[in-house]
Amino acid sequence: MRVTGTGHASMRIDTAAGSILCDPWVNPAYFASWFPFPDNSLLDWETLGQVDYLYVSHLHRDHFDAKHLRDFVSKDATVLLPEFPTSEMEDEFRALGFTKFLKAPNEQVVELDGGLKIMIQALTSPTDGPIGDSSLWVEYDGVRLLNQNDARPTDLGLFTELGHVHAHLLQFSGAIWYPMVYELPQSAKTAFGKQKRDRQFDRTWRYIDDLKASHVFPIAGPPCFLDDALWQFNDIHGDEGNIFPDQSVFLAEYAKVGGTNGIVLLPGSVAEVTTSGATTTHPQPVEEFFANKVAHLEEMRERKRPVIEAEKASWRHPEIDVLKEMKRRIEPLLDESIYLAKGVGGPVRFDLVSPDGSGGESVESIVVDFPGKEVRPYADEKVRYRFRTERALIEYLLHIGEVDWVNSLFLSCRFSAARIGQYNEFVYAFFKCLSTERLQYAEGWYDEHERAVDAEDITLGDWVVQRRCPHLKADLSRFGIVEGDQLTCQLHGWKFDLPSGRCLTSVGHKVRAHRVGEEEATPQSAP
Ligand code: FES
Repeated sequence: MRVTGTGHASMRIDTAAGSILCDPWVNPAYFASWFPFPDNSLLDWETLGQVDYLYVSHLHRDHFDAKHLRDFVSKDATVLLPEFPTSEMEDEFRALGFTKFLKAPNEQVVELDGGLKIMIQALTSPTDGPIGDSSLWVEYDGVRLLNQNDARPTDLGLFTELGHVHAHLLQFSGAIWYPMVYELPQSAKTAFGKQKRDRQFDRTWRYIDDLKASHVFPIAGPPCFLDDALWQFNDIHGDEGNIFPDQSVFLAEYAKVGGTNGIVLLPGSVAEVTTSGATTTHPQPVEEFFANKVAHLEEMRERKRPVIEAEKASWRHPEIDVLKEMKRRIEPLLDESIYLAKGVGGPVRFDLVSPDGSGGESVESIVVDFPGKEVRPYADEKVRYRFRTERALIEYLLHIGEVDWVNSLFLSCRFSAARIGQYNEFVYAFFKCLSTERLQYAEGWYDEHERAVDAEDITLGDWVVQRRCPHLKADLSRFGIVEGDQLTCQLHGWKFDLPSGRCLTSVGHKVRAHRVGEEEATPQSAP
């Protein structure tokens, strides 16, 4: 089995029974904030796009690059579709001209022509990608590969049961706006960033240890940031709180925990994987590439400057009355929302900043009032979250009817944020569900999730706790760590105060717990 690195989470898998192109991403994503790192735009995409199968793990724009898929991927390719709850991905593919689809039944091995086998695991909670993320398992001639991508299954047992895996490709770096955009003192940002960076690596080691594959390939990040306004997010400034470590850092950290089987794929690297080993050739020595990382980024920044400028020129739509349009779009969804609105539980404020023509800036403050179910001007009140961003970005989102502000505005990192209290996942879940179809799915999911009585308990140290994590049901007998009175679930790092059951990381999500030998506490309540 041949695996060609094509940048970020993308690869092309070649076997004698057919080829699969995965997640080809070349054009900048999220308001021209993210670019693939290392640069992959100079690969021979005409040839790479001539494939038998195409697999895109999910709809995040650094995985689903519509322009690239339209222009460079053969429309004769059969699209391997994860079983997601909505038809959005298939609809998007059809709009780009794809007509051949194989809807892979979730978590079932499918045999394709010539003895090529695949299995797709779709994750479908509202917090997985934009309503869905997935992993692809491939087997040919006894060689097995897992493209875990940036999916976070609770465990990898499904794949280990199918036999030893030879190539495990997974995410290790950050892909979020936290903590950089928060209006916090730099020292706090560094401390939070460092915690996050450590947690990302811990999670990666856990998955690697779960699968015990012959070879581990770090993929799906980091992106690079080429706009001058975002340049500081690249991990080139010696900031230990930077959440975007690159592949060379991965190798160094992996070595510290005893890892010796890591293989970095540059765009154009080719790994030949067999049941007995892997040989890899690179377009240039990997160490040399990373030693010259800053020069690579600076050269790319100059080359891509016109691309960024062209995108920026398309954002402004001053003809849009933002308050009126947000009211029209969002109020019907607030009316429909029970769980998400209750979960947010307070007003969320958007400060829209625009140049005022005299060299200063004007600010319009709009509140999405979840309890009051309305969108209205800010009324000098306490708010749960405050986002501050360029008015042009919101104008653009409203102009194109964007239904997912996470997969556009928030991932762009082109905003700053402040909040009172804990992280609130419902805020982001709501703003990624700005369509009836998505909102109904998310509401139904939370409804089911909250009603599910997960009666099984386990003992961790001095505590009896529910077996499944209140966040996304990770098995706490494997992911849970108790230190004193605090439980940490290592899958996403959420913490819980055991005596009260309170989640210390996010609103809601109470855990059921009591000390060994004491009376059982009351069951968890809805957010
Ligand atoms: S499943 Fe996410 S923290 Fe436990």
